Amino acid sequence: MGIIRSMHAPTSPSNAQAGAPRWRLAQIDLDRIDVARVRARDDLFLLVCSASFVESGSDTYTRNLVTYFAGDAEFGAWLQQRWETEELQHGRALRAYFEHVWPEYDWQRAYDRFFDEYARLCVVDALEPTRGQELVARCIVETGTTTYYQALAAVGDEPVLVDLASRIRNDEVGHYKHFYRQFLKYRGSEGLRRAHVAAAIWRRVAELRRSDADIALRHAAQLRGLDASSAPRRVYAALAERYPVELAVRMALKPLRLRASLQRMAERPLGAVMRRWLQ
Ligand SMILES: [Fe+2]
Ligand SMILES: [Fe+2]
Repeated sequence: MGIIRSMHAPTSPSNAQAGAPRWRLAQIDLDRIDVARVRARDDLFLLVCSASFVESGSDTYTRNLVTYFAGDAEFGAWLQQRWETEELQHGRALRAYFEHVWPEYDWQRAYDRFFDEYARLCVVDALEPTRGQELVARCIVETGTTTYYQALAAVGDEPVLVDLASRIRNDEVGHYKHFYRQFLKYRGSEGLRRAHVAAAIWRRVAELRRSDADIALRHAAQLRGLDASSAPRRVYAALAERYPVELAVRMALKPLRLRASLQRMAERPLGAVMRRWLQ
């Protein structure tokens, strides 16, 4: 896949550090939304609403990361100026889309309930033991968001939603690349071995299904009056059919820096495990 292969492509520092997001909220033309096409769909309600919750809470997590990386001024500046700005824009854009299609729901009230629970997860103690390992964990999170929005664009079936999900997905790839570059920097200085990287990958993957996305889906389901215990499972099943498994596996394995032949050998069984996991 081009995205992953191009990760070693030179990126100019000014481009990597630029504070301006790649797109602006005003470019999302809400009036063009084909409301009738999405309004009745519970899956899109849950996917858009829960994503808007998680993205809107991004600033809490940024603060933790900035604290954790204190002293690394360049990376700290990128986190605040680029990463946080883009994640919060994702939240605003998804909320705007949601409120345009489902104006009768009280987004703010549901978000407040979500945030109450979510904020307790976002504590510095929950970060990885070393900075390099935390950057591996960030790569896994961005792998999750990249593939989530790619799948959302595929199931969206409404032009404005497909456009929005694709823009967000491209931002998430950019975040992955930046975290990956930072990981390479710390990997050397911390003397991280493959076992440390594998452990960080494992811990973050194991956490994915019981973390922010689940909390957000539960609160989104409650908002719609759906069964909060079974709704997340149904949404994952809907997404699984269009989920880019190969891309997810390739991105997740990349920090291990395996030889190409070894990486290919690992990809197939892990892809099979992930397909079963998604069912
Ligand atoms: Fe995001
Ligand atoms: Fe991101």
